[in-house]
Amino acid sequence: MKNTKTLGAEMSLYVQSALHDAFPQMIPNDFEAAVVPTADPRNGDYQCNDAMALAKILRKAPREIAAAIVEALERPARTAEMVSSLEIAGPGFINFRLNPEWVADRLLSIEDDPCRGTPQVGEAKTVVIDYSSPNVAKPMHIGHIRSTVIGNALDRLHRFCGFRVLSDNHLGDWGTQFGLIILGYRHFVNPEALEASPVQELERVYVESYRKSKEDDAWMDQARRELVKLQQGDEENLALWKKFVALSMGEFEKIYDRLGVRFDLTRGESYYNADLPGVLTRLDEAGLLVESDGAMVVDLEAETLGVCIVRKTDGGFNYATTDLATVFSRVRDFEPETILYVTDERQQRHFRQFFTVCEKLGVDVNLEHVWFGLMRLPEGTFSTREGNVIKLEVLLDEAERRALEIVRSSSPDLPEAQQRDVARAVGIGALKYADLCQNPQSLVTFTWDKAMALDGNSAPYLQYAHARIRSVLDKHAAQFPADTLGDARPACALPPEQALGLKLARFPEAVLGATRHYRPNYLADYLYELAREYSTYHQSVPFLKSDDGVRESRMRLIRMVADTLKTGLDLLGIEAPERI
Ligand code: ARG
Repeated sequence: MKNTKTLGAEMSLYVQSALHDAFPQMIPNDFEAAVVPTADPRNGDYQCNDAMALAKILRKAPREIAAAIVEALERPARTAEMVSSLEIAGPGFINFRLNPEWVADRLLSIEDDPCRGTPQVGEAKTVVIDYSSPNVAKPMHIGHIRSTVIGNALDRLHRFCGFRVLSDNHLGDWGTQFGLIILGYRHFVNPEALEASPVQELERVYVESYRKSKEDDAWMDQARRELVKLQQGDEENLALWKKFVALSMGEFEKIYDRLGVRFDLTRGESYYNADLPGVLTRLDEAGLLVESDGAMVVDLEAETLGVCIVRKTDGGFNYATTDLATVFSRVRDFEPETILYVTDERQQRHFRQFFTVCEKLGVDVNLEHVWFGLMRLPEGTFSTREGNVIKLEVLLDEAERRALEIVRSSSPDLPEAQQRDVARAVGIGALKYADLCQNPQSLVTFTWDKAMALDGNSAPYLQYAHARIRSVLDKHAAQFPADTLGDARPACALPPEQALGLKLARFPEAVLGATRHYRPNYLADYLYELAREYSTYHQSVPFLKSDDGVRESRMRLIRMVADTLKTGLDLLGIEAPERI
């Protein structure tokens, strides 16, 4: 399945060659025909708007150009089985309808492909995805949770498209806060609280120590000395620091386990500590390093990005310095084509600065900041502490509790343990999907009703559609054991099954769109539309009561729907249980 193209790409090629036949030697070499899905299915399945774009180049009326293209497309040698009809509309659009039999063949040809016909555009390319990246001794805030969910979906999508992916959890495990934490820990830690809820207690210690430093200069000086000792490798401080990292990691791991997230690498900021002085040398050699009020900076005024501080007045390195050291190391070790950084919107300026410095240094890699807005939480939705810091466990528990209610009423006969298993998949899935179905950059408000809705754009709705198909298939297998679906062609005689078939064949387009634009919501939208098309179909035709032959072909079609839903949900990091 390596060389498959999406339907759109295949259609574009088809039109491209007709273009050259229609206007020999007149089409610029770099002109690429574009055939895109129609916005309104009543006009056709795909449409080409190139006649308008070519009007200037060819000095002809768009409709005349469209007519010539259609004429070339209809020459016998070119008539494709792929297209069943085409027509010119409006100022010069060409609308195409695909041949449902051809679509059915295509579905058969991609059925056994684990990538379901998705072009392997990532072959021989490496992408590093830097996501989640919480800070040690601080709880994960909602930004880290979104980063974890969105980053993990991007991770799965890229692997699916053939990329070699290295997911890296760039922990905030080094920095000035550790002086305050070490000092605070020695004075105010409560061992029981530390045992019960380590990260929360470490944060409390930090906050208290920070407050004291604001009032008490001697405390601040002492904290600085503790930090210097840590940085110089003092054994006692190093042991404390290691303890903080381990305690925090232990809590983060629990969350990753529940979310089904795993990283290839967990190289926190500390990993690059020894490289930091070298960053300054490299900047200096490139003539980029200047002094400003005792600090060392890269001047980005020309780019209207101010200055990027790489060494503070007190001699300490900072966030940007570490990110530079990190990118050098990643480029050297993994030779990535692209590095994605998934964080909330508040870091846009940091990444613009840091990327600009990389450009000046000629760092040979494509850098992308995939940012998202902060999700709003309506009052009282979660137990919140200080702004948008939420207790993630509480949120996950609540999701599972609500899902269990749904499962208990939809499958009362299921054994309790299984009900809980399903509830876990549905609850966690609902939370993830509520995040992933939105444009990451738009402002959204989370509500339980929307996240758990069985009749709207939600994970439970998709999981339910999937489970419903599996149950039809099970009934079918029990009633008609002789039906071998393997020989059946997917049904494509009736309009709702044609629509469903076309939708299935477009799965690769949705996956590629989501991957290329770093927008998992493109895939979520697709899955929702697929489930809705299925629902229409389900209501309009009989399944088990249909005639021999017809029945099998319908089963074959809906099995493809279930498989595609399952694969698609998996790409979003969401499970699709056989029953709900
Ligand atoms: N630890 C940072 C934070 O919590 C996020 C790190 C993002 N990754 C990076 N390479 N800067 O804000």
